[in-house]
Amino acid sequence: MKLILSLTPLFLSTLVASKSLLFGGNQQHPLADDNLLVPGDNPLTFCADPSDYLLTIDNVDLDPNPPQKGKALTIKAKGNFTVKVEKDAYINLSVKYGVITLINTKADLCDQMKEVDESCPLEGAKDFTKDVTLPKEIPRGTYTVLADVYTKDDEQVTCLKATAHFS
Ligand SMILES: *[C@@H]1O[C@H](CO)[C@@H](O)[C@H](O)[C@H]1NC(C)=O
Ligand SMILES: *[C@@H]1O[C@H](CO)[C@@H](O)[C@H](O)[C@H]1NC(C)=O
Repeated sequence: MKLILSLTPLFLSTLVASKSLLFGGNQQHPLADDNLLVPGDNPLTFCADPSDYLLTIDNVDLDPNPPQKGKALTIKAKGNFTVKVEKDAYINLSVKYGVITLINTKADLCDQMKEVDESCPLEGAKDFTKDVTLPKEIPRGTYTVLADVYTKDDEQVTCLKATAHFS
């Protein structure tokens, strides 16, 4: 849990963070329409048509993609908060290992943003870079990550998911 939360600074890094549990392996976009693919070098998809989301994501790039266990991972993300996102915005994060839920938690978005030296309110164009080091061990299997982000009034900021297989 601490690992996950400490890696969730970016507006969507909950997903990437969960990947640090995954440590590399073949990450693939879940079956999805092209318009659900998150732009950039990453394995993420939007949960639904992102045109209604308050956050427009220009790109998310992982280096290396997929991440390698035991190695540094650089996450670059660029987006635009099209309306002001104020305190008490939150991330509902779930990580499943097969059918088993490893993590199902609600985290404060503004707290997480401090990890990248940002604070609420969030508004306009934002650009982040974050380096993390991935642990060495991971049980093999299929992992599913879902990060659902809302304002305090339950307006959808974004929703992202990823599936990863590790052999
Ligand atoms: C961000 O979104 C706002 C509201 O839609 C828009 O006015 C602004 O031009 C956008 N900024 C960028 C850099 O795209
Ligand atoms: C987010 O998670 C909380 C706590 O699990 C839950 O009560 C809430 O309904 C969830 N919000 C949404 C919009 O799914």
